[in-house]
Amino acid sequence: MTSTLILDEQTHEFKTKTGKKALIRYPKWDDLTALTEYINELSKEDTYITVFNQEITLEEEKEFLTRVFKEMESQNGVTLLCFVDKELVAVSGFNRRKYNGKRDNHVAEFGISVKSEYRNAGIGFMMARIVIKEGLKNVPGIKIVRLNVFGENEQAIHLYEKLGFEEVGRIPGGILYREKYIDDILMYMQASKFINNSKD
Ligand SMILES: CC(C)(COP(=O)(O)OP(=O)(O)OC[C@H]1O[C@@H](n2cnc3c(N)ncnc32)[C@H](O)[C@@H]1OP(=O)(O)O)[C@@H](O)C(=O)NCCC(=O)NCCS
Repeated sequence: MTSTLILDEQTHEFKTKTGKKALIRYPKWDDLTALTEYINELSKEDTYITVFNQEITLEEEKEFLTRVFKEMESQNGVTLLCFVDKELVAVSGFNRRKYNGKRDNHVAEFGISVKSEYRNAGIGFMMARIVIKEGLKNVPGIKIVRLNVFGENEQAIHLYEKLGFEEVGRIPGGILYREKYIDDILMYMQASKFINNSKD
């Protein structure tokens, strides 16, 4: 599948807090197997994401990657991958929300995950900044970025607050996680706030 400018060889390199060289780039079809293994490892971990305890097939992951490319081509989303020593260690996306038809076209949904052994090394923060920056550049008209986070997920909440997100809503017991009802938190950030915070 061919694509627009945002699928070119743009990359971003940085050093993690543990001194490893990391590379952030757009996905390619060649990443399909690595992506399938990645999501299955997270699914087995049963962590704070919606996919858990289920085996994702290569076919299903192919559908996901097809959607990712379509969203990028139609300027409705951006997904980036992070690699350390050629190993896929993080995936993050920024997608236009079309939940309420054209009523919330100006809102993007943000999501991120980092492989367990690579957490707390600054990868999440770096990925999030680049994905939101690329998202605001390539998905026109976005004014608000939103996300949902599980109430217990203090690491993610800390990361999101550091990025400029703030909590605007909470459904007590809205998530069933490991046989316990925990809060479903809604956080949001104005695009203008992110742009202002990113100015050096
Ligand atoms: C949330 C997640 C993406 C963060 O990625 P990461 O690479 O670990 O993030 P970073 O290393 O950039 O930042 C983590 C921050 O949390 C802090 N932290 C770690 N554990 C914490 C805790 N229990 N409470 C509060 N803060 C904590 C770290 O100190 C660090 O902050 P600092 O940079 O100010 O020191 C990652 O933990 C993850 O993938 N978790 C599982 C999936 C998930 O929860 N996804 C988000 C769904 S909403």
